[in-house]
Amino acid sequence: MLRIAMGDRKGRPYAGHLQYFFKEKTMAKVILNKQKRGWWKSAVFYQIYPKSFQDTNGDGIGDLRGVISRLDYLAELGIDGIWMSPVCQSPQVDNGYDISDYRAVDPMFGTMEDMETLIAEAKKRGISIILDLVLNHCSDQHIWFKEAITGKDNPYHDYFIWRDGDGVTPPNDMRATFGGSAWTYVPQLGQWYFHQFAVEQPDLNWDNPMVRRELYSTIRFWVQKGVEGFRLDVIDQIGKDADKGITNNGPRLHEFLRELSREAFQEEGLATVGEAWGADVERAKLYSAPDGSELSMVFQFQHIGLDQQPGKDKWDTRPLPLVQLKEVYRSWQQGLHNVGWNSLFMNNHDLPRIVSRWGNDSEEFRVVSAKMLATMLHGMEGTPYIYQGEELGMTNIKLPIEAYADIEIHNMYNERAAKGYTKEEVMESIWARGRDNARTPMQWNAGENAGFTTGKPWLPVNPNHTGINAEAALSDPDSVFHYYQKLIELRKTLEVFRDGEFTLLLPKDEKIFAYTRDTKKGHLLVVCNFTAETLPYEVPETFRNSRLLIHNYKTTAPGLRPYEAAMLYYEEQF
Ligand code: GLC
Ligand code: CA
Repeated sequence: MLRIAMGDRKGRPYAGHLQYFFKEKTMAKVILNKQKRGWWKSAVFYQIYPKSFQDTNGDGIGDLRGVISRLDYLAELGIDGIWMSPVCQSPQVDNGYDISDYRAVDPMFGTMEDMETLIAEAKKRGISIILDLVLNHCSDQHIWFKEAITGKDNPYHDYFIWRDGDGVTPPNDMRATFGGSAWTYVPQLGQWYFHQFAVEQPDLNWDNPMVRRELYSTIRFWVQKGVEGFRLDVIDQIGKDADKGITNNGPRLHEFLRELSREAFQEEGLATVGEAWGADVERAKLYSAPDGSELSMVFQFQHIGLDQQPGKDKWDTRPLPLVQLKEVYRSWQQGLHNVGWNSLFMNNHDLPRIVSRWGNDSEEFRVVSAKMLATMLHGMEGTPYIYQGEELGMTNIKLPIEAYADIEIHNMYNERAAKGYTKEEVMESIWARGRDNARTPMQWNAGENAGFTTGKPWLPVNPNHTGINAEAALSDPDSVFHYYQKLIELRKTLEVFRDGEFTLLLPKDEKIFAYTRDTKKGHLLVVCNFTAETLPYEVPETFRNSRLLIHNYKTTAPGLRPYEAAMLYYEEQF
């Protein structure tokens, strides 16, 4: 035991880090976490967007006490961990992704004591808390930035990325993700600072070792509080080279990640997932290498971009090309098998509700298509993430422009209006792809404001909460909720879900997504009809006498009915 506790991942004794190591954690904890190494490979995570989850004080904004009050619901679903979108102190220009104090809880969400209670209460139910870390940038209200703009000789000045200039022509033509130039001028310094996102989100200068040290120590602060993992916001941007116009996958990215992992994530068993829009399979092998030298896994987005027109913006949509989707999944599933690890997700707080995009949110097909999409995803190798409300089959919403809160929606609306797009065109794009589709309050019951708040919700509740809500789902054995519950249970019961090798069937079929997962012992077949048509389909010979693990129809019939999906399984008789 002792020897393990004092060694690194490979059992070698700690040398350089010894001091740091013992200063910051107790021996008992190290032993405990060592046993948990790799636990996230059989885990299912649930993402909470705290602002929209559950309000308890009537201010219309979800809070930490709200999350605590719903832990039993999450335990019933069966999840192992909660990824919490940011709850640190923030002026909320980008809903908490603009942090002004990394070690304080925003009063809007509650207190540090609430956070400690949440961690403890979750742990009692076997649920780990995973915090969202925004390390690429902070808020312009952070003390670092406030100091930085007082003068070039202030030590905090070099915490940010500056270029001299005249205030007329930015250093280069890089664009910010939320619109406009990525450079903003500070007249009193005669300099421009770089921001990949909003003007109020200055990028941190990762080339400065002081910045990195500050951030690592912040991470240790949260590990001490009992947090068991982190989601790292836009982590593929930290190695950027702003002069060369490189944001994603910059020259120092993997060097920084290895240092981050060494210095801040030494705790064995932490689950770490990086958001990496620029990741491809080869890069993901580095990010998620089994030796743990970087992260546990990354969120990649190659599948997400498929329903947009190539070369255009996310607002320019097209129908999902299923053959391409299958090829993307095939390449990730096979590419990372044994040499990396996948995250599995289709929804998050930045994406529209997938049932409204790739499924069918009509009265007739919503439930069956939500279950089909879940079947497709949860049969794969990797760690699944469920975004709040996905387990209820929550849908997109259509609001008038004034009712939206998202900075990205408003900036895009203004930019496109100025470019001559019609209002109808712009609204269609927002209804299809806007981030607020996912951010409407969680639908708990059919009552006023869906049980989310007794006050005025910060973003309108979807009127369809009268039919789609947690209370109704819990009392209906055929609900989307109970289907997810079963998928989670299956993943914990059969090792084929964790270890099975992926083979894509019918790669050219434009309507059916079918694949197998095989270990020496167990064989899994996943079949999904992505259309509202009935299609001819024959189960492969080898699966004729298999067990039906899960099915989104109550009866069996020849072929595949609209959005029909099933998992079949058999074991070798040795
Ligand atoms: C990530 C977050 C998104 C945020 C952006 C800037 O993409 O998921 O919500 O706006 O980073 O922090
Ligand atoms: Ca509140």
